[in-house]
Amino acid sequence: MRILLTGRGGQVGWELERLLPALGEVVATDRAALDLAGAGIPEVVSRVKPTLIVNAAAYTAVDKAETEKDAAMRVNGIAPGILAEEAKRLGALLVHYSTDYVFDGEKQAPYVEDDAPNPLGAYGASKLEGERRIRASGCRHLIVRTSWVYGARGRNFFLTMRNARQPLRVVDDQRGVPTSSRFLAEHTVSLIDKKVEGLLHLVPSGSTTWYGFARQILGEKSAITPIRSSEYQTAARRPANSVLDNRKAQALLGGALPDWRSVLAAVR
Ligand SMILES: NC(=O)c1ccc[n+]([C@@H]2O[C@H](COP(=O)([O-])OP(=O)(O)OC[C@H]3O[C@@H](n4cnc5c(N)ncnc54)[C@H](OP(=O)(O)O)[C@@H]3O)[C@@H](O)[C@H]2O)c1
Repeated sequence: MRILLTGRGGQVGWELERLLPALGEVVATDRAALDLAGAGIPEVVSRVKPTLIVNAAAYTAVDKAETEKDAAMRVNGIAPGILAEEAKRLGALLVHYSTDYVFDGEKQAPYVEDDAPNPLGAYGASKLEGERRIRASGCRHLIVRTSWVYGARGRNFFLTMRNARQPLRVVDDQRGVPTSSRFLAEHTVSLIDKKVEGLLHLVPSGSTTWYGFARQILGEKSAITPIRSSEYQTAARRPANSVLDNRKAQALLGGALPDWRSVLAAVR
């Protein structure tokens, strides 16, 4: 397999660059080598001639996207469509990541793959457009929706909490599933190996709130006060419930996926 990876410096991209060589020869790119906001995508793909494209790059600044809608749409909406057209032309598989923020959070149970998306903000809307364009291209694809990504490197809630001065106030009325970048990369490789295609929710089992996540990171004795979203103003609205149902992924991977707490324990 000849693999083109985008976003090598991102949380997930960094892990993938270390795991994808198990599947073939990897050409890993950063923004300088392949700018998803630019016009050079077809030229780079033509040069690399991949049989697999893994798109780990994205515009991930959820709040900033509200004032930079065009930039978010270019990278998250339009670029995946161009990668998909190129994959189609080459007969390559496109693996792409999407988000729990395609949902509005009104559902009272975990979201399954078939639930209707309805993003609350510009980031979610741009990611949903990326999904739509990939499907419309007719290329072979695997779209992996995930949530609350963190790891030992990068910008994420886990490191923010670990480096923050207590006492802390953390939102307790948004529920989701923390997912480590390593977990995501490892299972992505397994899914590719098993030739899984389509749309899939990939997160550990269980769920929590940001407050519950913070407590698990810092310990029961930490000084954290649970607050409501209304007490912590952000530019983008976030879904109250964005728990993704991982049963389809469990069936395809042939076993139970670990609880988010044990995934977190492996990151420390
Ligand atoms: N983070 C989360 O909580 C979360 C939740 C759900 C889904 N996801 C999805 O999971 C995937 C991986 O996210 P992540 O957390 O690994 O993101 P990340 O750590 O923010 O990394 C994103 C990467 O994309 C690159 N990038 C941004 N704009 C680019 C451009 N115009 N051209 C080329 N590269 C560009 C960044 O490069 P620079 O360093 O140069 O900016 C960075 O390497 C994304 O599809 C994201 O939407 C993430």
